Amino acid sequence: MKTKLQLTSVALLSILLLISGCRRDFDSSKAYSLIPLPYSLQQNAKSFELNNETRIVYSGENIESSAHLLKQFISVVSTLNLEVLSQEEAKDLKNVILLSTVAREEKLGKEGYRMYVDKDKVIVNSNDADGIFYGVQTLRQLFENQMLASEKESLSVPAIRIWDEPRFSYRGMHLDVCRHFFDVEFIKHYLDLMAYYKYNTFHWHLTEDQGWRIEIKKYPKLTEVGAWRTEEDGSRYGGFYTQEEIKEVIAYAKNLHINIIPEIEMPGHSRAALAAYPELSCTGKAQEVPNSWGVFDDIYCAGNEQTFEFIQDVLDEVIALFPGDYIHIGGDEARKARWEVCEKCQARIQNEGLKDEHELQSYFIKRIDAYLTSKGKKLIGWDEILEGGLAQNATVMSWRGTEGGIAAARLGNDVVNTPSSHCYFDHYQADRNYEPKAIGGFTSLKKVYDFEPVPEDLYTEQKALILGAQANVWSEYIETEEYVEYMILPRMLALSEVLWGRKRNQNWDAFQFRLQKHLQWFDKENYRYSKGSYRLEFAVNLDTTSNQKMVEIQSEQYLPTIFYTTNGREPDTTSTRYQGIFPIDSTVKMIRAGVFEKGHLMQASSKIDLLD
Ligand code: ACM
Ligand code: ZN
Repeated sequence: MKTKLQLTSVALLSILLLISGCRRDFDSSKAYSLIPLPYSLQQNAKSFELNNETRIVYSGENIESSAHLLKQFISVVSTLNLEVLSQEEAKDLKNVILLSTVAREEKLGKEGYRMYVDKDKVIVNSNDADGIFYGVQTLRQLFENQMLASEKESLSVPAIRIWDEPRFSYRGMHLDVCRHFFDVEFIKHYLDLMAYYKYNTFHWHLTEDQGWRIEIKKYPKLTEVGAWRTEEDGSRYGGFYTQEEIKEVIAYAKNLHINIIPEIEMPGHSRAALAAYPELSCTGKAQEVPNSWGVFDDIYCAGNEQTFEFIQDVLDEVIALFPGDYIHIGGDEARKARWEVCEKCQARIQNEGLKDEHELQSYFIKRIDAYLTSKGKKLIGWDEILEGGLAQNATVMSWRGTEGGIAAARLGNDVVNTPSSHCYFDHYQADRNYEPKAIGGFTSLKKVYDFEPVPEDLYTEQKALILGAQANVWSEYIETEEYVEYMILPRMLALSEVLWGRKRNQNWDAFQFRLQKHLQWFDKENYRYSKGSYRLEFAVNLDTTSNQKMVEIQSEQYLPTIFYTTNGREPDTTSTRYQGIFPIDSTVKMIRAGVFEKGHLMQASSKIDLLD
């Protein structure tokens, strides 16, 4: 037994040596600038050159659309116009990109794929159409990056072998279209970016205090009244999506293998609905759609049966439109001031034997949960839905840290983690003095990259309930489409790597290297994006061998040009150029350093005082 084991290890070791021998000089964490980084990427012997005779061949259910997407991408980045054929139509399987759902490998799951390249063909295999779609996205990035690198006329697929599948099944981006409204064309662009970085869930925040954005046929005033507000300067601001437009977006997303979760907020963040139908509030008084941000006292009356009839009618139309499993019902930031003094709400508390207004909120959410469950849908809500008791089938979206997610997982409920610390893309991403106005906070690219969606202090079975994570893009201060782009780029790339990639693969330097290609792509496409922070950090350590202080200057920029002084003066391009860790002696009391591009200081210099 022992000998056999030893022999096996020797055999394994030689195989490993052989493989690594083939891969000399090949750094898979940097290769081809793919984001998110594939699970495993190895170098092969032969690359594949595309020409006008190359065919895209598909075999399997529901993958013809991915074949056509690939054809379209190729026609955009090159002059090639390739024919798409089914496997039955394709006689000769040479000079082809073959997309086929015949992987039959359990480990690849629904969304995984493997790709094999040789000089005659590229083969993308998966178990399911989702996997083929992601293989096509990888090919698309390889093509885009190659065109950026060489600006050559022809395209090739490098000599590689990929085995890839996502870490998380829920990879989400949210967008608030209520504080500011973004039209269908922009939503499609948002979905395109999501698909390129392998996100699969779009959380569409459709109702708010400051605007109701989805047409509901039974309640026309929701959009006639609720979709519009009067701004401080007297102008009218608003907009909404017709049901036809919503269907168009859903179909567009489906083609990109993205599920849309609509959010209909309750019981709070509902003043636009109450402006349209004031009888649904506790006071019944007429009110305006607000034009300022915050959390308001007026919310749906939980004692009034009419409220539930209204919400169920609204949900009926939402359910008829959206094919996915989930409906998001908000649940966050519902003040209880009105409920505390409302006769109907107090009567409900009495009659239902509830302890207080928190249990009344729980009653509200549980009633909606039962309704959604009866319609074959699943409820998802912000972590406040835990207060007063969590509905049995509910999925919790944890935003006030991950504590809500931990509590929900301990109760056996599913969780999506979106802690404001790491996942709020309405926060500043670099030094606020140099950034456009944002809501506050500080969520840098590095911080997003370092995010771990699965909290340590859960048991293994509970960890499995963390479905994934999501970036939230609240639009109080994000008024334009360009600014939305700016806030998500490049942070959504870092989160895509967290969600798709493996922890063991994570390597900030390699990510920054790969990111450069994507920033070039943004430039080419004229996308707005943040260049991040130019602030410098100093690490001062004592080298025990030489007994000398050593200074390292760190930056979020990739290979920045740094000049520094050790005499307290402002650095300029005649100062010392930073070339890596340097020693200082005890006479140095201050170091000042700055990042320079084209001879200009990019941002106020950073400094460190050295006390002793
Ligand atoms: C939230 O940010 N109010 C969910
Ligand atoms: Zn009430």
